[in-house]
Amino acid sequence: MEKTFAQEVEEGLSASPKFLSSKYHYDDEGSRIFQEIMAMPEYYLTNCELDIMKNRALEIYGATGFNTHFNIIELGAGDGAKTKEFLQNLLVENIDFTYVPIDISKEAIDILVKTMNQSLPNLKMNPQVGDYFEVMGKIEAKENCPNLVLFLGSNIGNFKSEWAVDLLQHMNEHMQSADKLLVGFDLMKNPNLIRNAYNDSQGITARFNMNVLTRINRELSGDFNLDTFDFYSFYNPENGDVKSYIYSLIEQDISIKETEKSFHFEKDECIWMELSKKYSLDGIEKLGADAGFQFKEHFLDSKGYFSDSLFTKG
Ligand code: AVJ
Repeated sequence: MEKTFAQEVEEGLSASPKFLSSKYHYDDEGSRIFQEIMAMPEYYLTNCELDIMKNRALEIYGATGFNTHFNIIELGAGDGAKTKEFLQNLLVENIDFTYVPIDISKEAIDILVKTMNQSLPNLKMNPQVGDYFEVMGKIEAKENCPNLVLFLGSNIGNFKSEWAVDLLQHMNEHMQSADKLLVGFDLMKNPNLIRNAYNDSQGITARFNMNVLTRINRELSGDFNLDTFDFYSFYNPENGDVKSYIYSLIEQDISIKETEKSFHFEKDECIWMELSKKYSLDGIEKLGADAGFQFKEHFLDSKGYFSDSLFTKG
Protein backbone atom coordinates (compact mmCIF):
# COMPACT_ATOMS: atom_id res chain seq x y z
CA MET A 1 0.00 0.00 0.00
CA GLU A 2 1.16 3.43 -1.00
CA LYS A 3 1.66 5.65 2.08
CA THR A 4 -0.61 8.67 2.52
CA PHE A 5 0.62 12.26 2.68
CA ALA A 6 -0.20 12.33 6.43
CA GLN A 7 1.79 9.12 7.04
CA GLU A 8 4.81 10.39 5.13
CA VAL A 9 4.74 13.76 6.89
CA GLU A 10 4.49 12.05 10.26
CA GLU A 11 7.38 9.74 9.42
CA GLY A 12 9.59 12.50 8.01
CA LEU A 13 9.02 15.01 10.80
CA SER A 14 9.51 12.35 13.51
CA ALA A 15 12.85 11.33 12.05
CA SER A 16 16.18 12.76 13.01
CA PRO A 17 17.29 14.54 10.88
CA LYS A 18 13.84 15.53 9.60
CA PHE A 19 12.93 15.07 5.93
CA LEU A 20 9.97 15.34 3.52
CA SER A 21 9.65 13.65 0.14
CA SER A 22 10.10 16.02 -2.81
CA LYS A 23 7.15 14.43 -4.60
CA TYR A 24 4.88 16.62 -2.45
CA HIS A 25 6.21 19.81 -4.04
CA TYR A 26 3.82 19.43 -6.97
CA ASP A 27 0.32 20.44 -5.96
CA ASP A 28 -1.35 22.97 -8.30
CA GLU A 29 0.47 25.93 -6.73
CA GLY A 30 3.78 24.02 -6.59
CA SER A 31 3.48 23.10 -10.26
CA ARG A 32 2.88 26.76 -11.09
CA ILE A 33 5.96 27.80 -9.09
CA PHE A 34 7.98 25.10 -10.86
CA GLN A 35 6.99 26.68 -14.20
CA GLU A 36 8.41 29.96 -12.82
CA ILE A 37 11.61 28.14 -11.86
CA MET A 38 11.99 26.76 -15.38
CA ALA A 39 11.74 30.32 -16.74
CA MET A 40 14.42 31.75 -14.39
CA PRO A 41 17.72 32.79 -15.97
CA GLU A 42 19.61 30.91 -13.21
CA TYR A 43 17.85 27.62 -13.97
CA TYR A 44 20.02 26.67 -16.98
CA LEU A 45 18.63 23.11 -17.16
CA THR A 46 15.55 24.05 -19.21
CA ASN A 47 17.44 25.63 -22.09
CA CYS A 48 20.12 22.95 -22.13
CA GLU A 49 17.67 20.14 -22.65
CA LEU A 50 15.71 22.24 -25.13
CA ASP A 51 18.96 22.65 -27.07
CA ILE A 52 19.43 18.86 -27.16
CA MET A 53 15.82 18.27 -28.24
CA LYS A 54 16.11 20.90 -30.96
CA ASN A 55 19.52 20.04 -32.33
CA ARG A 56 20.20 16.38 -31.66
CA ALA A 57 16.84 14.67 -32.19
CA LEU A 58 17.76 12.93 -35.43
CA GLU A 59 21.05 11.68 -34.00
CA ILE A 60 19.15 10.25 -31.05
CA TYR A 61 16.68 8.60 -33.40
CA GLY A 62 19.56 7.22 -35.47
CA ALA A 63 21.16 5.72 -32.37
CA THR A 64 17.97 3.82 -31.50
CA GLY A 65 18.38 1.82 -34.71
CA PHE A 66 14.59 1.78 -35.14
CA ASN A 67 13.39 1.59 -38.74
CA THR A 68 9.75 0.57 -38.35
CA HIS A 69 6.87 2.06 -36.40
CA PHE A 70 7.72 2.59 -32.69
CA ASN A 71 6.23 4.17 -29.57
CA ILE A 72 7.78 7.10 -27.77
CA ILE A 73 6.67 6.52 -24.19
CA GLU A 74 7.27 9.55 -21.99
CA LEU A 75 7.22 9.14 -18.20
CA GLY A 76 6.10 12.37 -16.51
CA ALA A 77 5.60 14.44 -19.63
CA GLY A 78 4.86 17.74 -17.85
CA ASP A 79 4.01 20.56 -20.24
CA GLY A 80 5.80 18.78 -23.08
CA ALA A 81 7.54 21.95 -24.27
CA LYS A 82 10.92 20.25 -24.70
CA THR A 83 9.57 16.95 -26.03
CA LYS A 84 7.57 18.88 -28.62
CA GLU A 85 10.81 19.96 -30.28
CA PHE A 86 12.07 16.39 -30.38
CA LEU A 87 8.81 15.08 -31.89
CA GLN A 88 8.67 17.87 -34.44
CA ASN A 89 12.17 17.06 -35.70
CA LEU A 90 11.10 13.45 -36.30
CA LEU A 91 7.79 14.39 -37.94
CA VAL A 92 9.56 16.65 -40.42
CA GLU A 93 11.52 13.58 -41.56
CA ASN A 94 8.32 11.49 -41.88
CA ILE A 95 9.51 9.08 -39.20
CA ASP A 96 6.67 6.76 -38.17
CA PHE A 97 5.95 6.72 -34.43
CA THR A 98 3.20 7.13 -31.84
CA TYR A 99 3.69 9.45 -28.86
CA VAL A 100 2.53 7.88 -25.57
CA PRO A 101 2.74 10.48 -22.78
CA ILE A 102 2.08 9.09 -19.29
CA ASP A 103 1.26 11.23 -16.28
CA ILE A 104 -0.56 10.66 -13.01
CA SER A 105 -2.33 13.99 -13.41
CA LYS A 106 -5.34 13.94 -15.78
CA GLU A 107 -5.18 17.72 -15.92
CA ALA A 108 -1.55 17.64 -17.05
CA ILE A 109 -2.36 15.13 -19.81
CA ASP A 110 -5.39 17.12 -21.00
CA ILE A 111 -3.30 20.27 -21.33
CA LEU A 112 -0.49 18.36 -23.05
CA VAL A 113 -2.85 16.79 -25.60
CA LYS A 114 -4.28 20.20 -26.40
CA THR A 115 -0.86 21.81 -26.94
CA MET A 116 0.34 18.92 -29.07
CA ASN A 117 -2.82 18.92 -31.20
CA GLN A 118 -2.36 22.63 -31.81
CA SER A 119 1.31 22.65 -32.65
CA LEU A 120 1.76 19.17 -34.17
CA PRO A 121 -1.55 18.28 -35.90
CA ASN A 122 0.01 15.23 -37.62
CA LEU A 123 1.26 13.68 -34.40
CA LYS A 124 -0.13 10.21 -33.58
CA MET A 125 -0.87 10.19 -29.86
CA ASN A 126 -1.94 7.59 -27.32
CA PRO A 127 -2.11 9.60 -24.05
CA GLN A 128 -2.33 7.66 -20.77
CA VAL A 129 -3.28 8.70 -17.24
CA GLY A 130 -1.93 6.50 -14.49
CA ASP A 131 1.02 4.91 -12.76
CA TYR A 132 4.15 4.84 -14.99
CA PHE A 133 4.82 1.15 -14.69
CA GLU A 134 1.24 -0.09 -14.88
CA VAL A 135 0.69 1.84 -18.08
CA MET A 136 4.08 0.87 -19.48
CA GLY A 137 3.34 -2.80 -18.82
CA LYS A 138 -0.03 -2.50 -20.52
CA ILE A 139 1.39 -0.78 -23.62
CA GLU A 140 4.28 -3.21 -23.94
CA ALA A 141 2.03 -6.26 -23.54
CA LYS A 142 -0.48 -5.09 -26.14
CA GLU A 143 1.78 -3.94 -28.93
CA ASN A 144 4.72 -5.58 -30.57
CA CYS A 145 6.51 -2.52 -31.90
CA PRO A 146 9.68 -1.30 -30.20
CA ASN A 147 9.56 1.52 -27.65
CA LEU A 148 11.74 4.50 -26.92
CA VAL A 149 11.13 5.36 -23.25
CA LEU A 150 11.83 8.96 -22.22
CA PHE A 151 12.58 10.04 -18.65
CA LEU A 152 13.72 13.61 -19.17
CA GLY A 153 14.25 16.87 -17.29
CA SER A 154 16.75 15.56 -14.71
CA ASN A 155 13.86 14.05 -12.77
CA ILE A 156 16.25 11.19 -11.97
CA GLY A 157 18.22 13.75 -9.92
CA ASN A 158 15.57 13.62 -7.17
CA PHE A 159 16.50 10.02 -6.38
CA LYS A 160 19.46 9.09 -4.22
CA SER A 161 21.78 6.52 -5.79
CA GLU A 162 20.14 3.30 -4.53
CA TRP A 163 16.68 4.58 -5.45
CA ALA A 164 17.83 5.71 -8.89
CA VAL A 165 19.14 2.19 -9.53
CA ASP A 166 15.83 0.72 -8.28
CA LEU A 167 13.83 3.03 -10.51
CA LEU A 168 15.82 2.26 -13.65
CA GLN A 169 15.80 -1.44 -12.81
CA HIS A 170 12.02 -1.26 -12.53
CA MET A 171 11.87 0.40 -15.96
CA ASN A 172 14.18 -2.28 -17.30
CA GLU A 173 11.83 -5.04 -16.10
CA HIS A 174 8.95 -3.43 -17.98
CA MET A 175 10.89 -3.10 -21.23
CA GLN A 176 11.30 -5.50 -24.17
CA SER A 177 14.75 -6.44 -25.45
CA ALA A 178 14.66 -4.08 -28.47
CA ASP A 179 13.52 -1.08 -26.41
CA LYS A 180 15.67 1.97 -25.71
CA LEU A 181 15.71 4.33 -22.74
CA LEU A 182 16.67 8.03 -22.90
CA VAL A 183 17.31 9.65 -19.50
CA GLY A 184 18.02 13.34 -18.84
CA PHE A 185 20.91 14.00 -16.43
CA ASP A 186 22.21 17.34 -15.23
CA LEU A 187 26.02 17.19 -15.23
CA MET A 188 28.53 18.29 -12.60
CA LYS A 189 29.95 21.68 -13.61
CA ASN A 190 30.98 25.09 -12.25
CA PRO A 191 29.77 24.85 -8.66
CA ASN A 192 28.65 28.50 -8.47
CA LEU A 193 26.44 28.02 -11.50
CA ILE A 194 24.79 24.99 -9.92
CA ARG A 195 24.36 26.66 -6.55
CA ASN A 196 22.71 29.70 -8.11
CA ALA A 197 20.23 27.54 -10.01
CA TYR A 198 18.86 26.33 -6.66
CA ASN A 199 19.39 29.55 -4.71
CA ASP A 200 17.92 32.17 -7.01
CA SER A 201 18.07 35.87 -6.18
CA GLN A 202 14.29 36.35 -6.36
CA GLY A 203 13.52 33.59 -3.85
CA ILE A 204 11.37 31.58 -6.25
CA THR A 205 13.01 28.29 -5.25
CA ALA A 206 12.50 29.22 -1.60
CA ARG A 207 8.80 29.77 -2.33
CA PHE A 208 8.66 26.41 -4.15
CA ASN A 209 9.88 24.67 -0.97
CA MET A 210 7.89 26.75 1.52
CA ASN A 211 4.76 25.87 -0.45
CA VAL A 212 5.04 22.32 0.94
CA LEU A 213 4.45 23.76 4.44
CA THR A 214 1.44 25.69 3.12
CA ARG A 215 0.19 22.43 1.64
CA ILE A 216 0.57 20.65 5.00
CA ASN A 217 -1.34 23.50 6.68
CA ARG A 218 -4.17 23.24 4.15
CA GLU A 219 -4.45 19.49 3.57
CA LEU A 220 -3.43 18.16 6.99
CA SER A 221 -4.53 21.09 9.22
CA GLY A 222 -1.02 22.04 10.22
CA ASP A 223 -0.09 25.28 11.93
CA PHE A 224 3.26 26.16 10.32
CA ASN A 225 3.89 29.90 10.46
CA LEU A 226 6.03 30.47 7.36
CA ASP A 227 7.56 33.62 8.83
CA THR A 228 9.38 31.41 11.37
CA PHE A 229 11.10 29.29 8.70
CA ASP A 230 13.70 29.97 6.05
CA PHE A 231 15.24 28.17 3.08
CA TYR A 232 18.82 26.88 2.62
CA SER A 233 20.38 25.06 -0.30
CA PHE A 234 23.92 24.00 -1.17
CA TYR A 235 25.88 22.07 -3.78
CA ASN A 236 28.58 19.56 -2.86
CA PRO A 237 31.01 19.33 -5.80
CA GLU A 238 32.57 16.18 -4.33
CA ASN A 239 29.51 14.01 -4.89
CA GLY A 240 27.21 16.12 -7.07
CA ASP A 241 24.47 16.50 -4.46
CA VAL A 242 22.37 19.66 -4.35
CA LYS A 243 20.47 19.45 -1.07
CA SER A 244 17.67 21.82 -0.16
CA TYR A 245 16.36 22.46 3.34
CA ILE A 246 13.81 24.45 5.31
CA TYR A 247 14.95 25.37 8.82
CA SER A 248 13.17 26.80 11.84
CA LEU A 249 14.24 30.29 12.93
CA ILE A 250 13.01 29.63 16.48
CA GLU A 251 12.45 26.72 18.87
CA GLN A 252 8.80 25.72 18.47
CA ASP A 253 6.20 22.95 18.30
CA ILE A 254 4.14 22.48 15.14
CA SER A 255 0.82 20.73 15.44
CA ILE A 256 -0.57 18.80 12.46
CA LYS A 257 -4.12 17.63 13.21
CA GLU A 258 -4.31 14.86 10.61
CA THR A 259 -1.27 13.16 12.13
CA GLU A 260 -2.74 13.61 15.65
CA LYS A 261 0.70 14.78 16.71
CA SER A 262 2.87 17.79 17.16
CA PHE A 263 6.49 18.04 16.14
CA HIS A 264 9.26 19.78 18.03
CA PHE A 265 11.74 22.01 16.23
CA GLU A 266 14.93 23.26 17.80
CA LYS A 267 16.09 26.70 16.68
CA ASP A 268 17.90 26.21 13.32
CA GLU A 269 16.69 22.62 12.98
CA CYS A 270 16.41 21.58 9.32
CA ILE A 271 13.96 19.59 7.23
CA TRP A 272 15.68 18.05 4.20
CA MET A 273 13.30 18.83 1.31
CA GLU A 274 14.99 17.79 -1.91
CA LEU A 275 17.95 16.17 -3.61
CA SER A 276 18.85 17.40 -7.11
CA LYS A 277 21.78 15.17 -8.00
CA LYS A 278 24.36 16.11 -10.62
CA TYR A 279 26.19 13.35 -12.47
CA SER A 280 29.51 12.75 -14.20
CA LEU A 281 29.40 10.89 -17.53
CA ASP A 282 31.11 7.95 -15.82
CA GLY A 283 28.52 8.05 -13.06
CA ILE A 284 25.70 7.89 -15.61
CA GLU A 285 27.24 4.85 -17.31
CA LYS A 286 27.74 3.13 -13.96
CA LEU A 287 24.15 3.82 -12.91
CA GLY A 288 22.86 2.35 -16.19
CA ALA A 289 25.03 -0.75 -15.77
CA ASP A 290 23.91 -1.21 -12.14
CA ALA A 291 20.30 -1.19 -13.35
CA GLY A 292 21.01 -3.83 -16.03
CA PHE A 293 21.18 -1.53 -19.05
CA GLN A 294 23.73 -1.40 -21.80
CA PHE A 295 25.02 2.12 -22.38
CA LYS A 296 24.73 3.47 -25.95
CA GLU A 297 25.55 7.16 -26.13
CA HIS A 298 25.48 10.56 -24.36
CA PHE A 299 23.85 13.49 -26.16
CA LEU A 300 25.06 16.76 -24.63
CA ASP A 301 23.91 20.35 -25.22
CA SER A 302 26.33 22.79 -26.86
CA LYS A 303 27.60 24.04 -23.47
CA GLY A 304 28.19 20.52 -22.18
CA TYR A 305 26.00 21.13 -19.11
CA PHE A 306 23.36 18.44 -19.55
CA SER A 307 23.13 14.97 -21.07
CA ASP A 308 20.28 12.96 -22.50
CA SER A 309 21.85 9.51 -22.28
CA LEU A 310 20.68 6.53 -24.30
CA PHE A 311 20.59 2.93 -23.05
CA THR A 312 19.53 -0.40 -24.53
CA LYS A 313 17.82 -3.03 -22.45
CA GLY A 314 20.59 -5.31 -23.61
C1 AVJ B 1 12.07 18.74 -11.51
C2 AVJ B 1 13.51 17.50 -10.09
C3 AVJ B 1 14.31 18.30 -12.19
O1 AVJ B 1 15.76 19.17 -9.15
O2 AVJ B 1 16.19 20.50 -10.79
C4 AVJ B 1 14.05 22.86 -9.39
C5 AVJ B 1 13.13 20.43 -9.29
N1 AVJ B 1 13.86 21.97 -7.45
N2 AVJ B 1 14.48 23.75 -8.47
C6 AVJ B 1 15.41 19.88 -10.09
C7 AVJ B 1 13.66 21.73 -8.73
C8 AVJ B 1 14.34 23.22 -7.29
C9 AVJ B 1 13.92 19.93 -10.45
N3 AVJ B 1 13.45 18.62 -11.03
